[in-house]
Amino acid sequence: MKLYKELAEWWPLMSPHTEYEEEAYLFLKIIEHYHPAIKTALEFGSGGGSNAFYLKKHFSMTLTDLSLDMLKVSRELNPDCLHMQGDMRKIDVGTEFDLVFIHDAISYFTDKADLLAVMNNAKKHLKPEGLLFIMPDQYKETFEPRTSHGGIDKNGRGMRYLEWSYDSDPEDGVTETEYAYVMRDRDGRITHEHDSDKAGLFSMPEWEGLLAEAGFQAHFERVAFSKEPGTYFGIAATQLN
Ligand SMILES: C[S@@+](CC[C@H](N)C(=O)[O-])C[C@H]1O[C@@H](n2cnc3c(N)ncnc32)[C@H](O)[C@@H]1O
Repeated sequence: MKLYKELAEWWPLMSPHTEYEEEAYLFLKIIEHYHPAIKTALEFGSGGGSNAFYLKKHFSMTLTDLSLDMLKVSRELNPDCLHMQGDMRKIDVGTEFDLVFIHDAISYFTDKADLLAVMNNAKKHLKPEGLLFIMPDQYKETFEPRTSHGGIDKNGRGMRYLEWSYDSDPEDGVTETEYAYVMRDRDGRITHEHDSDKAGLFSMPEWEGLLAEAGFQAHFERVAFSKEPGTYFGIAATQLN
């Protein structure tokens, strides 16, 4: 996606971290329910570091992402966190944590083998009592086509976007999303860009089966966002042994 590369500097205007405060709080409540004594956490696919901005107030966070441009954005927001570049399927941070957290970045995997590789890698980075918390955007059981928009003005620049998600083939386990971006720079210049993307659409039993294969017991927890009309579930994955 251009958004995570050449357009990454616009991320704070498209998706400002202040919009993540409620969700970070809701995730924290689930995390603390399954592991009340988290001291260290590792995030895979931490992007602009918006959830981390709130979660780091409760435990120390190491932030990892595939995109160097997104890590740069996150370093500005979270200069107190350690950042590392790497693919969540194989990054080796070299330490064990109380928590591995994966937010919406998990949705980019459309192949079960990739999801399993991520889960195995999360397990490798967890202490024996450690918790894996995954927050997929969607499940086969809950997916609904949706259109959303947003963006803000800040420091003389502005961005607006339109995001349109749909499922062109209900049999293939993949959904499609189109993004249209409009950006206004400080000198008033307007540019338009777009991205097209695919996301994996797996059922809850498929998630449960893959997590069991990686040595986890999945616990699905409903997350009720006040401004999102859809139905969302996070997965608190405890270790089988
Ligand atoms: C929507 S952003 C994440 C935003 C984040 N949840 C936050 O709180 O700011 C998705 C991120 O996933 C990252 N990503 C995609 N595939 C990845 C992979 N295989 N390994 C690590 N990061 C990945 C992208 O580079 C992007 O920064």
